[in-house]
Amino acid sequence: MAESIAFSKSAGREQVYAEIAPQIEALVSGETDLVANLANIAAVLKEAFGFFWVGFYLKKGEQLVLGPFQGPLACTRIDFDSGVCGHAYSTRETAIVPDVDAFPGHIACSSAARSEIVVPLVGATGEVFAVLDVDSDRLNDFSETDADGLKAIAAIVERTL
Ligand code: SME
Repeated sequence: MAESIAFSKSAGREQVYAEIAPQIEALVSGETDLVANLANIAAVLKEAFGFFWVGFYLKKGEQLVLGPFQGPLACTRIDFDSGVCGHAYSTRETAIVPDVDAFPGHIACSSAARSEIVVPLVGATGEVFAVLDVDSDRLNDFSETDADGLKAIAAIVERTL
């Protein structure tokens, strides 16, 4: 297994997403354990983009429960009708929130978070089994470039199931 990932340090996000996707594909192709794979993906995304917080919440029973992540301490349980994560879970759509203070019901795990993107991960049965959540300490930090890049990574995970 590779010891580290390679990416262009001064490149824009679109290029970095394109560079890390095949490396993530290679990482997860050799491992069947979901949590191990999500843990490495969180680490890769943190290293490549320096995100303030990046991680996964996993559907367990009737809640989303904190999974592998990189960044500050986070809320452990989120109801399906709460926050940006619950919104993405319930709508099954990627949510981009340019200003978390303007999102009704946003869950402030950290007061430093300013903008957020959440991508649902859909299993073989069509059920959302997890969400990928990225928080920034800057306003309006996420665009369709991030949505496309993170959805491509979500699709890699979905194919391992
Ligand atoms: N802000 C999220 C909760 C998770 S933390 O940001 C890590 C939300 O509103 O769903």
